[in-house]
Amino acid sequence: MKILTVVGARPQFIKAAAVSRVIRKSVEEVLVHTGQHYDNNMSEIFFSELSIPRPDYHLGVGSGSHARQTGEMLIKLEEVMLGERPDYVMLYGDTNSTLAGALAAVKIHIPIIHVEAGLRSFNMNMPEEVNRILTDRISDVLFCPTQTAVANLHAEGMERNVFLIGDVMCDAVRFYADGFDRSKAEGYIGGLSPLTPSCPDLSAGEWYLATIHRAENTDDIRKIGQILCAFERLDAPVLFPVHPRTKGLVRELAAQMNFRNTFFCEPIGYREMLFFLNHAKKLITDSGGLQKEAYILKTPCVTVRAQTEWCETLKGNWNVLAEPDTDDILSKVYHTSVDENEYQNYYGDGNAASRLLKIVTEELS
Ligand code: UD1
Repeated sequence: MKILTVVGARPQFIKAAAVSRVIRKSVEEVLVHTGQHYDNNMSEIFFSELSIPRPDYHLGVGSGSHARQTGEMLIKLEEVMLGERPDYVMLYGDTNSTLAGALAAVKIHIPIIHVEAGLRSFNMNMPEEVNRILTDRISDVLFCPTQTAVANLHAEGMERNVFLIGDVMCDAVRFYADGFDRSKAEGYIGGLSPLTPSCPDLSAGEWYLATIHRAENTDDIRKIGQILCAFERLDAPVLFPVHPRTKGLVRELAAQMNFRNTFFCEPIGYREMLFFLNHAKKLITDSGGLQKEAYILKTPCVTVRAQTEWCETLKGNWNVLAEPDTDDILSKVYHTSVDENEYQNYYGDGNAASRLLKIVTEELS
């Protein structure tokens, strides 16, 4: 059996690392990198650090408007798919690379496997929500990370080939989080490349971890300004690895605000990220994946978004939603405490990829 896997953005490299390691034992996998993320610290670092097999094709599409990026991927992916004629095309998550892979495959009648199917934020203004709904609708096999995701698909009339396998990102956390060791902190901290000149000292040991990159928080400088004001007023330094989408805004704001409590650095590798997350007082983010990684590692999280597709994390205040507003963020960080009794393992046992392989090789063929 031949599976053609499409990846392009940072979270997809991590998911592919967990799945490729398992499926390559029994299926032939052709890996295609669209090039959506191309900076060394957004792409290459994951391939080397997580030992992901080299892509068989690199399409070099890069940045652009949604239409240009998705359209260019579509044309190039079709060519590769026609040449390779795989039994399945496998796609992860909700990025423009996911949607392009789905549209290319469905038109030439190659069955699609969607991993991380069924997630919904119910906010159609998010490009990710559009990408995931359309991809689910034209996929042949839907692998869901949670029972909520299964229920979402059922509610939309999708019943056939819907499988609850657990979360492949949970596989990755369990596999790569092994060997956390606080004595490595100095090495990790020393390896960070700062983006602004004034850097608070992280070696004292207590920090918040933050990431902000979603369009809804970065399309208006006032919103990211409000968020950064909150970081400046927190009671411990904030480590903020900056996504390329946010970098220009941070530089612009650095010229106006004298940052004293926020340590801005280039994006960091996956193991380092898990390390900082595991030792953070709290995470403040708008990332989808990080909210859940925080939950798995039991680090409380404040999510700067109006909704989350990982609604299980909200139980017991392990994750709370905040507006892009200084006071709201500070109040959520300080005045919400977690309830240990409400913690449950919603995301699986770290064996989602093995379940996926078994279903693909034994139940579908
Ligand atoms: C994409 C996904 C989002 C995911 C995120 C993870 C879509 C619609 N969104 O958002 O779901 O959470 O990846 O990181 O697909 N850029 C660089 N270097 C890079 C990558 C991007 O400079 O390596 C810059 C480009 O200027 C680009 C901007 O970042 O215009 C945004 O990149 P894009 O690929 O459009 O989406 P992300 O915001 O990364």
